[in-house]
Amino acid sequence: MNNPMDWNEANMDFALLERVNPVFQTAKMTLFQLAANGDEDAIVLAKSMGLTLEATQNSATTTASPEQVLGGTIMLETRYRTMERLAEESGYTLVDMPCGYTPRAITFAKKGLPYYGLDLPVVIREASEQIPPLVPPERRELARFREVDATNYASLEKALEDVDGSVCITTEGLLMYFTDSEAGALCDNIRRILEEKGGCWYTADVESPLQYVITMRALVGDRFMEIMQNAKRQTMDKSDVEVGKNALITKPADMSGSIRSAMAFLAKHGLKAERVTVAEHMPELHSLSEISSRQAAAVREGMKHCAFWKITLGASTPAVELPASESEGFGIRASMLGSTLSLTLSGRLDTITAPNLLSFFEKAQAERPADAVTVDCSRLDYISSAGLRVLLIMHKACAGGVTLRGANEVVTEILSQTGFDSILNIVEGR
Ligand SMILES: C[S@@+](CC[C@H](N)C(=O)[O-])C[C@H]1O[C@@H](n2cnc3c(N)ncnc32)[C@H](O)[C@@H]1O
Repeated sequence: MNNPMDWNEANMDFALLERVNPVFQTAKMTLFQLAANGDEDAIVLAKSMGLTLEATQNSATTTASPEQVLGGTIMLETRYRTMERLAEESGYTLVDMPCGYTPRAITFAKKGLPYYGLDLPVVIREASEQIPPLVPPERRELARFREVDATNYASLEKALEDVDGSVCITTEGLLMYFTDSEAGALCDNIRRILEEKGGCWYTADVESPLQYVITMRALVGDRFMEIMQNAKRQTMDKSDVEVGKNALITKPADMSGSIRSAMAFLAKHGLKAERVTVAEHMPELHSLSEISSRQAAAVREGMKHCAFWKITLGASTPAVELPASESEGFGIRASMLGSTLSLTLSGRLDTITAPNLLSFFEKAQAERPADAVTVDCSRLDYISSAGLRVLLIMHKACAGGVTLRGANEVVTEILSQTGFDSILNIVEGR
């Protein structure tokens, strides 16, 4: 039996983090494949992390054939290198989310470019120990790693608080693990980041099933189905979730229908997308020199039909101003952008005025339900327990919760004394 005195809190914590989100195992698969592609930084990193073919490419119920491993490495190199080029060409600060264990921080730092790697705490703890030592010391401050949950806006806002200027968010290998509601929360969060900082979001995930089909078909012809099914089972084993089940992941059998649904999903969240053809941006790839010239030509040809999505703020969803309310020295101004309700409160939110806020919120929800509420408190003088109760009702009613900004000293003190600062998302500044 374990001696409770031997417990190491840091290790226990890490083990718990691993168990609640095993999807991070899939990121080790990627690093191994990049190393197999001859990427020197990936080779050093994979070695220092002790990654093996068996542990990264097989799962509890599947064994990957050499063809499956080869197809995976080609798919991965295409995705990774093309995305890197797009991110660099954007000229914005790269926010790699999720970063997994790829050596991109090293590549960017060597080029003198800033890099923000965001991922779940379990990954960041390991990556931020393993990767910075491989960055030249004088460039190390360019490579930053931050713990987030991509569906949690407060964690993203904190992770990016020191980013100056526009961002290029890159997402490779994330959307397929999300349900519709998680994908919706991610879209709302990215929309809010783009509203705040400007820039764009590139993702390879939306059309990744087609990219995989085309790559595998070029390699093994009609046997591609059998290999794909094994690969899908492997990914589900490693991630412990049903993959590819949300409205943002397109289906190779119905590309035009599923592209339309994915675009409509983005529009609902205040975003719009442009398809960026992979073949037009992919550099020379090492993995294509490892297969026959006929197979390599089929992959290159196929990439003319595959696209990454460049996602930006939806032009068709300007903020909708809601009628303002002012009574008893308490004012509410409000607007809706996508599915976020933005409130600016002024005066005293107390027992007399709190019902006005509750009734305002309930009316707004009935007309156009919000997934998240942001409250500018910079002109709010005071809040009583009745006001806090209304904020709690709003927080519980919206998946993305309530975020308060700009609270003065009096309000900040009340939030802290009542413990509300650990329930609501609180952000300094407006
Ligand atoms: C297939 S890996 C991709 C990582 C990297 N982009 C790559 O290409 O190797 C999936 C990653 O998603 C991360 N992930 C899963 N759920 C997440 C969430 N809610 N927030 C942030 N990262 C998440 C996992 O930790 C893992 O690193």
